[in-house]
Amino acid sequence: MEKATGESRAAGLGLGLGLRGKHFNHILENWPAVDWFEVISENFMDSGGRPRWVLRRIAERYPVVMHGVSLSIGSADPLDMEYLGRLKTLAEEVEPRWISDHLCWTGINGVNTHDLLPMPLTEESLKHVSKRVAQVQDFLGRRLVLENPSTYLTFKQSTIPEPDFLRYLAEETGCGLLLDVNNVFVSSYNNDLDPEEYIRALPAESVVQMHIAGHQNCGTHIMDTHDGPVVPGVWQLFALAWKLTGGAPVLLEWDARIPDFEECHAEVLKAKEFMGGFEGVVEERPAVVGEDVSNPVDFLVPEYGVVQSS
Ligand SMILES: [Fe+2]
Repeated sequence: MEKATGESRAAGLGLGLGLRGKHFNHILENWPAVDWFEVISENFMDSGGRPRWVLRRIAERYPVVMHGVSLSIGSADPLDMEYLGRLKTLAEEVEPRWISDHLCWTGINGVNTHDLLPMPLTEESLKHVSKRVAQVQDFLGRRLVLENPSTYLTFKQSTIPEPDFLRYLAEETGCGLLLDVNNVFVSSYNNDLDPEEYIRALPAESVVQMHIAGHQNCGTHIMDTHDGPVVPGVWQLFALAWKLTGGAPVLLEWDARIPDFEECHAEVLKAKEFMGGFEGVVEERPAVVGEDVSNPVDFLVPEYGVVQSS
């Protein structure tokens, strides 16, 4: 197998994979030619031992991005400075290209729900989040990157469409955006929005990274399960996002029923087939009746007692 090279460390990064414990041994033994890795910050900031050792070795050879799930930027709780301190320490060790998290809240009154909960999108919440993003960026000394979450409902109090909210946030704070194309597809299906319109409304120049992933259509709604291949409609949407962002780095998330490394890598490499142009969003595939649905809120990864991404 071709080994990793310095060429893929160019600013564009290319096509990356989420680093998962199941693949540690394969990576250490083969040093596969994947362009870059994204790591779930919480999987490593609280642990020493082998996971941290593995991460240090991987960060020596590949570009790494840190992706968090507990920042809770939208919460009414004060920012958790202890959490941010540990995040900063890990960043100083790993030197990630950037640090990302989600436009969401994950808890209140000090309780972490381990879920990425949707926010009402209003002038008030925009001011609230903008202030907190600025505080986080000051503390970390780095630009924060925020991801559009998958949502299953909207608030009737919301007055700002999500892509506009993200645009204002990026303009106000200078933060970057992580465009999760699958999340756009999932949220649009669940909330009766037009996913193409959503992508076109985002400030493409602020998008520093994209996510793609698989999901499960339950008929009345889509669950963001990250447990299978990317569906055709998401690939078509990706083609549009690729064109508009000028080729922002792409990362495949696969968090449940994770196949072997080669299959994950082959899935993200399929992105190359969709870099030529946008042909319109494909109809969502029909629901698979009777199929088990992975629980996207099942955050604990048994190996290390750690969390997965969204
Ligand atoms: Fe994502």
